[in-house]
Amino acid sequence: MSSTLFRTKKVEQSILDTEEPEHALKKSLSALDLTVFGVGVIIGTGIFVLTGTVAKNNAGPAVALAFVVAGVVCALAALCYAEFASTVPVAGSAYTFSYASLGELPAWIIGWDLVLEFALGTAVVSVGWSGYIASLLDNAGWHLPEALGSRDGADGFGFDILAAALVLLLTCILVLGTKLSARVTSIVVAIKVTVVLTVIIAGAFFIKGDHYDPFIPKAQEVPAGDSLQSPLIQLMFGWAPSNFGVMGIFTAASVVFFAFIGFDVVATAAEETRNPQRDMPRGILGSLIICTTLYVAVSIVVTGMQKYTDLSVTAPLADAFKATGHPWFAGFISFGAAVGLTTVCMILLLGQTRVFFAMSRDGLLPTFFSHVHPRFKTPHRPTILLGVIIAIVAGFTPLSELAELVNIGTLFAFVVVAIGVIILRKSRPDLPRSFRTPWVPVVPILSVLASLWLMLNLPTETWLRFALWMVIGFLVYFLYGRGHSRLGQRKATTADNTE
Ligand code: ALA
Repeated sequence: MSSTLFRTKKVEQSILDTEEPEHALKKSLSALDLTVFGVGVIIGTGIFVLTGTVAKNNAGPAVALAFVVAGVVCALAALCYAEFASTVPVAGSAYTFSYASLGELPAWIIGWDLVLEFALGTAVVSVGWSGYIASLLDNAGWHLPEALGSRDGADGFGFDILAAALVLLLTCILVLGTKLSARVTSIVVAIKVTVVLTVIIAGAFFIKGDHYDPFIPKAQEVPAGDSLQSPLIQLMFGWAPSNFGVMGIFTAASVVFFAFIGFDVVATAAEETRNPQRDMPRGILGSLIICTTLYVAVSIVVTGMQKYTDLSVTAPLADAFKATGHPWFAGFISFGAAVGLTTVCMILLLGQTRVFFAMSRDGLLPTFFSHVHPRFKTPHRPTILLGVIIAIVAGFTPLSELAELVNIGTLFAFVVVAIGVIILRKSRPDLPRSFRTPWVPVVPILSVLASLWLMLNLPTETWLRFALWMVIGFLVYFLYGRGHSRLGQRKATTADNTE
C-alpha cells in the first residue's frame, strides 16, 4: 500500500506527457514575459488593501517590518521553487514537483492545496477589485445597491455582482489563449507599477514624522472569547492572545504574506516557457525582488502620511491621499489599483486551471478536464468549470478570512517544495539543474522552518478550516484518484507485461 501511495512519476515521463499533442500547451513565454507575469500577479490586494488592515489591527507602522519578514520567507521558498521549476518544467507547479520527488499521495495533497490557494486567491482579489470599482463609482456619484456590492461589512443577503462579473470575463479571456492574456497583462502591469511608484514618490512629500511614533505599538491583550481568532502559536503555548508589539509583527507578516503570493504561480507556467531551464529562475527571483522593495517603500510612506489608527481598511493607499487633501491622486490610485487587480485575478485563475489540468492529465481527477481546445490550445474545460465556481464564491463571500486560508495553503506548499528539493537532490542527483538552490540542505530547511513559523502565526480557526479542506481531499484521492492514476495504470501494465 505505502509503495503505491509514494509511487513517483519520473521527471522524464512528466516532460514526455507534455509532448502528447492533445495534451500539449503552446511554448511561447520568455524570461521578461515571466517577470511581467510575476509582478502582474504579485502586486495586488495585499499591498492595496491589507497594508491598511494590518497596520491598523496588528502592527502599526511596523507593518513595513512585517513585509520584510514575509519577503524573507518568500525569498527562501523562491530559491527552492526556482530549482524545482528549472528541473521539472511541466505545468502544475509544486504539484508536479512533488509528484517527481515525494510521491503520488504528497503530490495529491499539494495539488489539492494549490486548488484552494488559487481558487480562493482569485476570489479574494476579485472582491478587492470590486471594492475599488465601487469606490470609483461612488466618486462619480453612482451608488450600487448594498445587496449587489462587496459582502465585507454588509448585512443580509447579497451578491457581489462586480466581483463575479470580473471572474467570468477573465475566464473567457483565458479560454482564448495565454498569448492574448500575456499581452494584456504587460500593459496593465505598467499601469500598476506607475501607480505604486506614484504612491511612493508623491506620498513621500506628505509624511509627518510623528506618525511613526510609536513605530512598534505596545502589545494589547485580545478580549477573552476570541481565542479561535488568535494565532495558533499563542494557544499552543498558553500565551495571552495579543495584538501589536513584536509578536504583532509576525501576525501581520502571516497576513501580508498574501501580498507575495504569485511568484509561485510563475512556476506553473514552466511548460509554456520557451527556455524554462534558464528563464524560470530569472522570472521568479526577479519579480520577487522588485515587489519586496516596492512593498516596504509603500508601507513606510502610507503609515507616515496617516496615523496608523486612522488608516482605511478598504482603500488605504487612495484614502491616505484623500486624508492629506489630495483627492485627485486618490482617484488616480483607485483607478490604477482596479486595473492592476484585474491581472492578479487573471493570473491566479490561470495558475488554478493549470494545476487542475495537470492533475487531470495524470488521471487523479477525471481526464475530461485535460483535453486542450483544438483551436485555442488552452485547457478550456477546467478554465470554464473553475471560473464559474469561483465567480459564485466571490459573489457570496467576504474577503478577510479567505485571505488567511489562502496563506496557510500556500505556506504548506512551500514546506513541501523545500523538502522536495532535498529529496530530489538525493534521489535524482543526475538531473540537469540550470538553477541550484544554494547551501542545500541549509536553505530548504530554513525555508521549512520559516514557512511553519508564519503558519503558526495564523488564527486557530484558519487551521481548522484548512484541516477540513485537506480531509475532503483525502476522501477524493482514495475514492477516485488512486484508482484512476495514469501512473498506477502504467505501472500495472508494465508489471503484467513482465509476468
Ligand atoms: N499577491 C497577490 C495580491 O496581493 C495575490 O493580491
